[in-house]
Amino acid sequence: MYSEKVMEHFNNPRNVGELNDADAIGETGSFKCGDTMKLYLKVKDDCIEDIKFQTYGCGAAIASSSMLTEMVKGKTIEEASKITNQDVANELGGLPPLKLHCSNLAADALQDALANYRSKQQS
Ligand code: FES
Repeated sequence: MYSEKVMEHFNNPRNVGELNDADAIGETGSFKCGDTMKLYLKVKDDCIEDIKFQTYGCGAAIASSSMLTEMVKGKTIEEASKITNQDVANELGGLPPLKLHCSNLAADALQDALANYRSKQQS
């Protein structure tokens, strides 16, 4: 029921952990299942140079988080802000309909981290 890419990211997730010197942190949780995700960004010259995540959730949530970090690393803040949960699901070769909400966790944590980054820039 899962694509090979989902299984590969679930079994070998990239960029797991936290960044002690993060420039921005995003957090989100799913009302549907109670799973949570925390995302850390290191930003230099408007570019996301490092990213780590901690996800307490299902296999699809972990695979989505891992995929998202690969998609975001090296992107500008503006490029990253355009990434949607559907983009993450597409990169994973699709998710079963019942698991589509799991990719929201990753996309929402990213948007929360970007909002956190922007608010720090303004203060
Ligand atoms: Fe909760 Fe997948 S079932 S994020």
